[in-house]
Amino acid sequence: MDVVNTEQEQYWNTEAGEKWVRYQRLLDAQIGPLGREAMDLARVSAGEKVLDVGCGCGDTTIELARRVSPGGHVLGIDLSTPMLERAKSRAESEGVENVTFVRGDAQSYRFPPKKFDVVYSRFGVMFFSDPVAAFRNFLEASRPGARLAFVCWQAVTENPWMAIPFMAALQHLPQVELPNPDAPGPFAFADPDKVRRILTAAGYENIEFHTARRELVVGAGEPLEGVVEFLLQMGPTGKVLRGADPELRRRVRESVLEALRPYQGNDGVYMTGTAWMVTAKSPR
Ligand SMILES: C[S@@+](CC[C@H](N)C(=O)[O-])C[C@H]1O[C@@H](n2cnc3c(N)ncnc32)[C@H](O)[C@@H]1O
Repeated sequence: MDVVNTEQEQYWNTEAGEKWVRYQRLLDAQIGPLGREAMDLARVSAGEKVLDVGCGCGDTTIELARRVSPGGHVLGIDLSTPMLERAKSRAESEGVENVTFVRGDAQSYRFPPKKFDVVYSRFGVMFFSDPVAAFRNFLEASRPGARLAFVCWQAVTENPWMAIPFMAALQHLPQVELPNPDAPGPFAFADPDKVRRILTAAGYENIEFHTARRELVVGAGEPLEGVVEFLLQMGPTGKVLRGADPELRRRVRESVLEALRPYQGNDGVYMTGTAWMVTAKSPR
C-alpha cells in the first residue's frame, strides 16, 4: 500500500481509530446531519459513482449508496483498519451491496482515472500532509464536470462543543503545549482562503463555501456523565489528556461536567458546532 501520511496511518490505526469505533453511534448522531447537508449540496442521485474520502466507520458511505441506488456505486477509502472493519460489517448487516471499502491513503491511492461523478467527504480531508496533491489525485479520478463536496470544521472558537471542554481541561494543564490549528488535524481547513488556494492549485473550479452553524446533539442523548467521558476522549481534549494520571483526569472530568451542565436539555446535551460546506467542480 502506497502510504505517504504515515503519521496519520499510525494515529487512525491505534488510539483514534479505536475511539471512533467505540463512539461510532454517538459520533454519527452528532455529525450525521452535517454530512447529509453536504450530500444534499452535492445533489447525489441515482446511478452515480461516488468516492467517499476518509469514510471511517461507513455511515456516509452507506447513506450515499442508498442515494445512488439503483445503478450507482460508492467507493469508501480510509487508512484505518478498525474503522473499515466496522464499515464493512455495517454495510453487510444493512444489506447494502453497492459499496466497496478499500484501505489506502487517499492522497496517493491510484484510483481509476475519470471514474467518479462526485467526490465527497464528511470531516475526512483535513489530515493530508500535501493537500494539493490529494485533491489533484481526486480530480484525476473524477470525470469532467464532476462535483466535489465536503464538510470540515471552522475554527475551534466557532465550535463551543470542542472549545468549552478544552478550556475547562486547560485550567488544570497550565503547561500544556497548544496544538497548531494549521497542522493536519480537525481545524486544518478552518481558513477558507487557505482551502480556496489548495483547491485552485489542484485544478478545481466554481469553489463555494457555505457556513453551517448548528445545534449538535453531543453524546446522542446519553446521560451527562457519559457525554463528559466521550468529550474527554475526543479531539483536542483527548490529545492533551493522553497519558494523564487518574487524579488529574478526575479533576478535569469535574470541571468539564460543570461546564457542560448548562447545555443539558430534556433529551440530551446540545451545543453549537460550526462547519464549512465546501463545493467545487472538476473542469469540463
Ligand atoms: C474525523 S474522521 C471522519 C470519519 C468519517 N468520515 C465520519 O465522518 O465518520 C477522519 C477520517 O479520515 C481518515 N483519514 C485521514 N487521513 C486519511 C488519508 N490520507 N487517506 C484516507 N483516509 C484518511 C481517518 O482514518 C478517519 O477515518
